[in-house]
Amino acid sequence: MAYPVVLVLHSWGRWAVVVLCLLAMGKALVGWLGGREWTRADQRLQLLTVSAFDTQMLLGMVLYFVLSPFTPHALDGGFLASRAIPTLWFFSFEHPATMLLALVCVHAASALSQRAQRPVPRHRAWALGLLLAMVLVVLAIPWPGLPHGRSLFRGF
Ligand code: HEM
Repeated sequence: MAYPVVLVLHSWGRWAVVVLCLLAMGKALVGWLGGREWTRADQRLQLLTVSAFDTQMLLGMVLYFVLSPFTPHALDGGFLASRAIPTLWFFSFEHPATMLLALVCVHAASALSQRAQRPVPRHRAWALGLLLAMVLVVLAIPWPGLPHGRSLFRGF
């Protein structure tokens, strides 16, 4: 029972990550290129975006280490056994490793932007980190049509 619930949450969580990333990146680019102030709204959007990543990571880890039948804990041969089958390799290594890298980018960008003294470097650090994270997320989502693809809007 827990598996379908967590899978649906993780599947829809992708949209929270993608939409918040796009919004935050657009706002940071306008702030950077337009020399705008760093506002409370920017601060809130940053917090929300980082939290969406963290939540997605947490749900992903529950799937990875406990619930999913596509990851090493569910396989007889463990991690090495998954290498032979592309879909298992994708969910055992490529997807989590790439998403972890995206999470590191988002946290680093958020920390660097917090440390910046002036608004423009603040927007710039945040925009560039998000851009990198967004590329990684888009590359690692199992889009429909790929060999390991999943539906865009999962139901129960
Ligand atoms: C921003 C980060 C992430 C995003 C946007 C994301 C997105 C997704 C999406 C869209 C799916 C397909 C869901 C479906 O079948 O409808 C998926 C599956 C999966 N994700 Fe993630 N993911 C992220 C991070 C992670 C992390 C960090 C891990 C592991 C530590 C992880 C582990 C998994 C696993 C194991 C599955 C397959 C579950 C199954 O079908 O049994 N994900 N993810």
